[in-house]
Amino acid sequence: MCGIVGYVGPKRAQDVVIDGLRRLEYRGYDSAGIAVVHEGELALAKRAGKLANLDKVLADTPLPPAHTGIGHTRWATHGRPNDVNAHPHTGGARRVALVHNGIIENFVELRSRVEADDHVFLSETDTEIVAHLVELQVQSGVDLPTAMQRVCQQLDGAFTLVAVDAEDPDRVVAARRNSPLVVGLGEGENFLGSDVAAFIEHTREALELGQDQIVTITRDEVTVSDFWGRPVEAQRFHVDWDLSAAEKDGHDWFMRKEIFEQPRAVADSLIGRRTTGGLLQLDEMRLADEEIRDLDKIIIIACGTSFYAGMVAKYAIEHWTRTPVEVELASEFRYRDPIVDATTLVVAISQSGETADTLQAIRHARSQRAKVLAICNTNGSSIPRESDAVIYTHAGPEIGVASTKGFLTQLVACYLLALYVAQVKGTRFGDEIDEIMVQLEAMPGHIETVLAQSDAVYELARAHTSTRSVLFLGRHAGYPVALEGALKLKELAYLHAEGFAAGELKHGPIALIEDGLPVLCVVPPRGRDQLHGKMLSGIQEVRARGARTICLAEEGDSTIEPYADDLVRLPRVPVLLQPLVAIVPLQLFACELATALGHDVDQPRNLAKSVTVE
Ligand code: G6P
Repeated sequence: MCGIVGYVGPKRAQDVVIDGLRRLEYRGYDSAGIAVVHEGELALAKRAGKLANLDKVLADTPLPPAHTGIGHTRWATHGRPNDVNAHPHTGGARRVALVHNGIIENFVELRSRVEADDHVFLSETDTEIVAHLVELQVQSGVDLPTAMQRVCQQLDGAFTLVAVDAEDPDRVVAARRNSPLVVGLGEGENFLGSDVAAFIEHTREALELGQDQIVTITRDEVTVSDFWGRPVEAQRFHVDWDLSAAEKDGHDWFMRKEIFEQPRAVADSLIGRRTTGGLLQLDEMRLADEEIRDLDKIIIIACGTSFYAGMVAKYAIEHWTRTPVEVELASEFRYRDPIVDATTLVVAISQSGETADTLQAIRHARSQRAKVLAICNTNGSSIPRESDAVIYTHAGPEIGVASTKGFLTQLVACYLLALYVAQVKGTRFGDEIDEIMVQLEAMPGHIETVLAQSDAVYELARAHTSTRSVLFLGRHAGYPVALEGALKLKELAYLHAEGFAAGELKHGPIALIEDGLPVLCVVPPRGRDQLHGKMLSGIQEVRARGARTICLAEEGDSTIEPYADDLVRLPRVPVLLQPLVAIVPLQLFACELATALGHDVDQPRNLAKSVTVE
């Protein structure tokens, strides 16, 4: 959580830092702040609330024309989201300014140590103590990188720290442990950011940093060491995304733009997965065939939307590979002493690659000798870096806090993994795998067909602005779709929304049904007759009790017509692939309903896109 920017170069630091923060605002928007170094002094501005509040302050009182600066956009952990707790924080002498993402677990102890020396703290944050400690170090005569090293050696917890020293105006120093940080390499200028979106306007050349590393940037140099000052070779990479990918492209929300990008994102995630001989190849898959053949269990761990992608994956993997799959919330995994060993494959699904719960879960799995495979959208992020293998999704940057194209491309990656395991284990014939690949390759077109009905879905959404509660029903692979549809509505429209397995309804939730309650039903394709018939019974049960049913059902399915108050048609696809099309109307519904209610769709209240605290 929290977005961090650092800059040294010929441009006006205020402009570069604020533009970077704008692109990172999805990471948190409780407050924003900036510090620049000018003529031996720090100049600071910070404000509670969204970046727009800080913009107003800077429009009235611009900072001096400095060339070195740091900035921060906050998702509050310690201390309320007010002006005082906003970052940057400074030491007592206002010589060092510092921003932080993460949690310093031993801050109380560190703080009490210096409070005895008359240090006064202004904020309730766990960060301010670090600014004081770094400042004490530079005041004792060491340079900023050394000061940062010495302080990091004393810190427990997760942190990215970025600091400037008023008396050392041409350098920014940063440190990372368990929180994200990348370096942007420019010509005569260098950048720091929580992710590449912070500097993509200026450069697409970047360095990824490892655990417990310190980086120092000047205009012409980038040096990396560990917390003990030993030099480290950082990994350089080229960013494929361009600036336009991070802009809204004419849509009112990033989320809406990202929904409409889904056909392309799904197509991109399928590119290059087959050899000329037709065999499936996942070249980031660094697990030997032998290891895959020996697998006796797969455990999928993830959070939020990614968890629901994992639930869909379970149906596909078990059906195609006959390998048992468990799906588990990452935040629960390591606390229940899971049974994991060298024959377990742990699959971690994460759009951002930085979710702390998932990261800690994979560390636990690896400590138990399990192999870990990451499904991730963010190159160079922590989760793939700490995994044995990775399948990158190719969704491009996802800025809207509520995940959309991230989810669809995760589903694609899960299907690919399932088919790959089936190929290696020999549980499916080559021609069966071919057939499913052909069906997958047709999905971008099918998603386009669903998107073509967006106006009808929007109209439906706008008719529900006075609704207080919505239920979602699904069966089989449609069950996680129902859960994800409900999550979207909670996240964006702040409505009570719940997803249920349709068969479970009669065991309790049916008591919730009352006159006029909207129930969105994901109807399975007719190919699976039992499933389809059972779903129809569930729909009749809620309708008989007064619910208004909005049904998503495949083209040509006339059996549903008598039971649907409203009907959205889905293309005819196999049941296991149906989530790729069925979730799209639910995303559009939530986006439009939230818009009609006047909510900020890209930055819903209380949420952050990347949750880097446990
Ligand atoms: C946060 C976001 C969710 C997301 C979840 C997992 O809670 O608000 O939209 O699904 O994190 O994120 P990940 O990056 O690990 O997929």
